[in-house]
This record gives sequence, structure tokens and C-alpha cells, in this order.
Amino acid sequence: MNLIRIGALALAAGTGLAVAQPALKDVFQDRFLVGAALNEAQFTEKDAAQARLIARQFNTITPENVLKWEGVHPRPGQYDFTAADRYVAFGEKHGMFIVGHTLVWHNQTPAWVFQDDNGQPLGREALLARLRDHISTVVGRYRGRIKGWDVVNEALKEDGSLRDSPWRKIIGDDYIQRAFEFAHAADPAAELYYNDFSLENPPKREGAVALVRQLQAARVSLTGIGTQQHVKLDWPSAQQVDDTLVAFGRLGLKVMVTELDVDVLPAPSKDRSAEVSRRATATPALNPYADGLPEVVQQALARRYADLFAVYRKHRGTLTRVTFWGVTDRDSWLNDWPVRGRTSYPLLFDRAGNPKPAFDAVVRLP
Ligand code: GLA
Repeated sequence: MNLIRIGALALAAGTGLAVAQPALKDVFQDRFLVGAALNEAQFTEKDAAQARLIARQFNTITPENVLKWEGVHPRPGQYDFTAADRYVAFGEKHGMFIVGHTLVWHNQTPAWVFQDDNGQPLGREALLARLRDHISTVVGRYRGRIKGWDVVNEALKEDGSLRDSPWRKIIGDDYIQRAFEFAHAADPAAELYYNDFSLENPPKREGAVALVRQLQAARVSLTGIGTQQHVKLDWPSAQQVDDTLVAFGRLGLKVMVTELDVDVLPAPSKDRSAEVSRRATATPALNPYADGLPEVVQQALARRYADLFAVYRKHRGTLTRVTFWGVTDRDSWLNDWPVRGRTSYPLLFDRAGNPKPAFDAVVRLP
């Protein structure tokens, strides 16, 4: 059937019959929650059209930026919950499962966090005290309302060993365990997650499995593991995604896809990870679809999404949530990373908020 779309309705061509646009949250309701990371214009409903699209399509939300340390705790002793309160209110208004992202990360965390009043590196006890204050204040404010937290984000290197972040350098390897303990104390009912990218690569996956086992042996309240899945058309393979969900499911954890998008643009270097510090200079060759996405790539993207969701559907009972990193192509971080000013096409909704062939491929999976 050929459909002509008008907002959430589509006219079946030649029939004049209006059929409702399917909603992702309904299509997968007996399998997993489906969500998106939101920016401020969306959850304040300044962008009313997108706010409507989000309410119609998704039953869980993640804040793209407003709960990161730099946003919510910009200066010593000074918290700013203005935007975060609006985010949580939006989720409650629509009865959504509200995720908090993220408590401990080495990015988007101000330099002062790791320094004393004289700009010297902080000692272990002082940084632990600061971490406890941050976590108990932020998690405590939304106790019972934010239902799941990305407690620690991206603590692993690609070889599976611990990243030498300022957290680890100053506190030691147990900073991860301590962060989970602080979060559990602040809201004993909240789900608590470890979140990272490239977990489909075996060395990093094994590092994550080892980390989870250590935390479990220490009786830490760890509910789930988030696989970000900032993926490409050709990496990781569906098999790698499948293997990863199996490996984490075996640990008795909930598993989530937390930051899904599919990058169709050329890679500027061999490093294809979602390491946010990566940067490359813009060239026309790196921005080939500035005037639109060729049909062959559009179809390749649709097939890729169908393949991914076919894997996700297999993990009923283990995979509890699939969250996209953004709503429409217009707002994706991939327009500016790792190269600024590109035209990217990583999501299911186009720049005008209309569903793409990839959306149809996902909702029509047999
Ligand atoms: C990482 C973080 C997210 C976001 C993305 C890119 O994956 O977890 O918060 O910053 O990078 O936007």
C-alpha cells in the first residue's frame, strides 16, 4: 500500500482512507520500552511538533544533556535543576519511564570537580565526598520519579581495561563501586546501570563482563547494562550485537540499548568508536549527502535498522529498553561529530519529523 503522510495520519493512496501512523511503543509493547534522548526544546515543548511526536512514539525518555554534571552542578556547591525539572515533568505528564543520564563520566564534567580551592588535584577522600554530595543531591531530588540511572558512563577502554580518567586516577578502581553505593543509598528503588559504547567488540565486552562480575561479587546494586550502540551501516555485525546481548543477559542483568543511531556518513579515520573527544576537519568528501540521501543509502539504512530490531526482538525478557540518541535527523549530535556541520541521517524520523523508510522497515518487521 502506498501511503501519503500528513502528521500522524497517512492516506492510503487512491483510497482516501486515513490510517494512523503506528507508534514504536505500541509495536514493541510486549518486548521492550522504546525511547529517545531529548533536548531542551523538545521537553519544554518549545518545539511543539516534536513534543507531540515524542509523546505519540515513545514510552521512555533520556535527557541528552541536562542531567550531566556540567549542567546540573556547574559550580562548587551550586546546583541548577531548572532544565532537569522540566525534563522530569514532561516524562511524568506522558506517563513515561524516566531515565537519568549520567552521574559519573569524564566528559561534560567541569575541571573544578577534580581540584581543590587552589587548583591543585583533589585527594581521594575529598573527591569521594564530592561525588557522594553530587549523587545524593541529584538522585535524591528525583527519588521515586527518575526510575533508572546511568550511574557510571564509559569507564572502559577499547582493550577492556579501566580508562585512566580523573575519577580513577584520584579515587582508585573502586570509584565505580562507590558511585553505585551512593546512588543506591539516595534512591533504593531506582534501577542502576553501567553504560558504555563499542561493547560489541570482544575485548571491551569481556572487560565489561569482568567489571560486572566484580561489582556483583561485591554485592553492588547493579540492575542493568546499557550498550550505547552508536553504530555504522557495517559495524558491528548483527551477530556481534546478538552475542553481546547474550553475554550480558547471562550475567542476570537487564540489558538495554541506550543510545541507538546509525551513522551513514564516511568515517574520517580508522577509529570508528563513539569516543566524543574524536574530532576531524570538515571536507566536502566527508559530507556527501548535504543535498539529500540517495535512495540506495536510504534503503541500506532501512535494512540495517530492520536487521538490528530483528536481533533486539529475540531477547525478550533480557532486553528491556531500546532508546534512540535523538528523535529526528535534524537534531542528531552526528551533524556535528566527529566533523562539524555535516548533514547526517542516523534516525527513524527525517528533518521535518516524518517517518523514513527505516521507520516503516522497523514497524513492519514480520
Ligand atoms: C556519549 C554519551 C552521551 C552523548 C553521546 C554523544 O555516548 O553517553 O551522553 O554525549 O556520547 O552525544
